[in-house]
Amino acid sequence: MTEFDLVDTDGAEIPGDEWDEIDVSESEADAVGRKQDREFLEFRKRIKDADQFKVTDSVFDDATLAALYKLVQDGHVAAFGGPLSTGKEANVYLAAGDDRDVAVKIYRINASDFRAMRDYLDGDPRFEGIGSDKRKVVVAWTKKEFANLMRARDAGVRVPEPIAVQRNVLVMEFLGRDGERAKRLSEVAVENPETAYEVVREYTRRLYRAGLVHGDLSEYNVVVHDGELYVLDLGQAVTVHHPNSRDFLERDCRNVAAFFSRQGYEVTGEAMFEYVTEPEPEP
Ligand SMILES: Nc1ncnc2c1ncn2[C@@H]1O[C@H](COP(=O)(O)OP(=O)(O)O)[C@@H](O)[C@H]1O
Ligand SMILES: [Mg+2]
Repeated sequence: MTEFDLVDTDGAEIPGDEWDEIDVSESEADAVGRKQDREFLEFRKRIKDADQFKVTDSVFDDATLAALYKLVQDGHVAAFGGPLSTGKEANVYLAAGDDRDVAVKIYRINASDFRAMRDYLDGDPRFEGIGSDKRKVVVAWTKKEFANLMRARDAGVRVPEPIAVQRNVLVMEFLGRDGERAKRLSEVAVENPETAYEVVREYTRRLYRAGLVHGDLSEYNVVVHDGELYVLDLGQAVTVHHPNSRDFLERDCRNVAAFFSRQGYEVTGEAMFEYVTEPEPEP
């Protein structure tokens, strides 16, 4: 039986209200894309001809190709593998990394739903004044996911280790085995729903205490890897200062409670919300 141990938080830094500025100025990848030297042009052709990218050519505008090229040059990606997922805003690919498999999440500049993205970015102090330029919004979004993964890790929540970010491309630890992605909670028979619920609830509390609300938490964004639960998809996560953070958290709790109730462990969103927002004991 899987135990779903929690991550040890001893020594984990619980951050306060200070947020890193997120820089959306032109990246090195933009410069590479503009220069179009011979090596880049060869790389671009190779990627454009690769079978696994054929169906999703909308992903690969020149600047995105340049971001991929930069990630290869920097040694984060050695070879691209097949798609793991084709979502609404992003595609995720398996790739060979430096010494292990990695997952490469590529946000589509053109397909992305900016209006929805803006609703999450507005009110987040990290993104003040970023404007409504499409490229900037998606680049900010991608950097936000990277920063959120870091923050979640520091708070003792199991998430894929963030490895690198370039423009609209995020490289992270691959969760899975032998190229098979880890199964989502929605895809497994949950043997012990009570334990699994308690872990998800605790993760949500740790995120909250680290100043973050996931915003899209459900059985689709939690996976089982090596007998542990991991949370994915932190792009839309907002800080607790966001005007809608409470609504997002209530919705997250409702989704999680509804899932576990269907698994035979009766819980309510309200009970989870109360647990998550319970004031931290004085140290
Ligand atoms: N680091 C990863 N390792 C393994 N699979 C992943 C990883 N990141 C994403 N995936 C797979 O891709 C799917 C979509 O990724 P996600 O980050 O949830 O993006 P979306 O916004 O499209 O839902 C996930 O449900 C998961 O199956
Ligand atoms: Mg998802």
